[in-house]
Amino acid sequence: MTRRSLLSLGASVGAGLVLRRPSLAFQSGPRIVQADLEAKAGWIPHAGRQAYRYSYNNQVPGPLIEARPGDTIRIRFTNSLPEETNLHFHGLHVSPTGNADNSFVMVAPGEQFQYELPLVANHPGGTFWIHPHMHGAVARQVWRGLAAPVIVRAELDAIPEVKAAAEVVLVLQDVTLGTDGIPVEPGFMQQMAGREGSVITAAGNVNPTIPIQKDGWVRLRLINASCSRFYRLQLEEHELYQIASDGGSLPAPVGLDELLLLPGQRADLMIQGSRAPGTYRLLNLPYNRGATGMGMGMGMMGMMGGTAGALSAPSTIATLAYSRQANRVVPLPQKLVSVAPLPPPSRVRSFTLGQSMGQGMMGGGMGFGINGRTFDPSRVDTRVRLGDVEDWEFLNPMAMDHPMHIHTNAFQIIQPDGSAQPAWRDVVLVRAGDRVRVRMAFQDFTGKLMYHCHIFDHEDLGMMGVLEISAEA
Ligand code: C2O
Ligand code: CU
Ligand code: CU
Repeated sequence: MTRRSLLSLGASVGAGLVLRRPSLAFQSGPRIVQADLEAKAGWIPHAGRQAYRYSYNNQVPGPLIEARPGDTIRIRFTNSLPEETNLHFHGLHVSPTGNADNSFVMVAPGEQFQYELPLVANHPGGTFWIHPHMHGAVARQVWRGLAAPVIVRAELDAIPEVKAAAEVVLVLQDVTLGTDGIPVEPGFMQQMAGREGSVITAAGNVNPTIPIQKDGWVRLRLINASCSRFYRLQLEEHELYQIASDGGSLPAPVGLDELLLLPGQRADLMIQGSRAPGTYRLLNLPYNRGATGMGMGMGMMGMMGGTAGALSAPSTIATLAYSRQANRVVPLPQKLVSVAPLPPPSRVRSFTLGQSMGQGMMGGGMGFGINGRTFDPSRVDTRVRLGDVEDWEFLNPMAMDHPMHIHTNAFQIIQPDGSAQPAWRDVVLVRAGDRVRVRMAFQDFTGKLMYHCHIFDHEDLGMMGVLEISAEA
């Protein structure tokens, strides 16, 4: 039986910081979750001023879409931008073809496209997000504001202690606005480094206040929707307990002093109001992503100013403010949702990240590639068989870090001892000069999809490949 429930996408949904748990969340029966999303360009209040932004439904970030396993997400998408765009559903385990999570779709200005994403009955609960995937324009469109959170509620959300926490979705975005309020497009060198903005917003606000009850719990659902910035988050005098990574629940809470959140990544953190009542800052600490070393002279490097990632002072992302005493004090659950290790792989592939010198060094012929090739949508770079388990090794001989991302199937990171980390992820950090191995199973869906560096400027410069999953091959 299918019931239809209309998601209300009023301004209060996306702009409100604290979410109430929807009463529908645990009723049985699959639903159609229907939403209208319109990509628009225009002047909206942002970061305390009027700014020219790209938005979904006039909101930066866009409205929250919420579903449960088995539901079908149906989005009537209208492109009112002055350029082509599309929607990618980052992290969702859905078909990469047709009118589902198909990143090859291009929606022309003024056109509509009906996205339809049936979620499998065992889709993991987690925090996901929508962003454009128009090759060559992704960084600019995201920089201008396009991003929207998606939540799939499942077992983790049914754990009473987790359910009792106040839930806050923090989409982290950054941009540099000119004095005229128009986003400043970076130069080529900054694109190679990966653009970082001078203004950081959380849920659309500069340093919003997050209320927390004395002794109560807040659950932060963090989404790094910035083009390139790595966040190193720390909460003054409070420990962070991570309960979910990109693709869903961790088997048990993990206590952290700080959290590194890469572009594209999500993390759910539980925080307890266990300190003296007051205000505490959620800080972003500096992170050095390396430099765009290109084998040229040091003088050249200096001239090009190739450092990626500002070495600036810590900045404040949000402020936690204590409110009244919680009625009920609950402990953190010891166990969450188990994560079964993937079976051994039937094959290991390796991907070398690098720069390819094209026609001229300064002329835009310089691309970022994988295994010596830059992105070509008409080429299939990697073919795998449905149902197989593979290890992918990313090798990074470059002098800067790359957060690598694979669509459609989440993976487990293989530790140096050969065991799989019990966590579902879809973005992995490949540090400068390092290598990393991930394991994934190609399940449920065939078709062509993409893997790429999630520094959107690098993706746009060509650090992306096409994977085809087929039943035979
Ligand atoms: Cu969030 Cu293909 O990326
Ligand atoms: Cu993605
Ligand atoms: Cu990169």
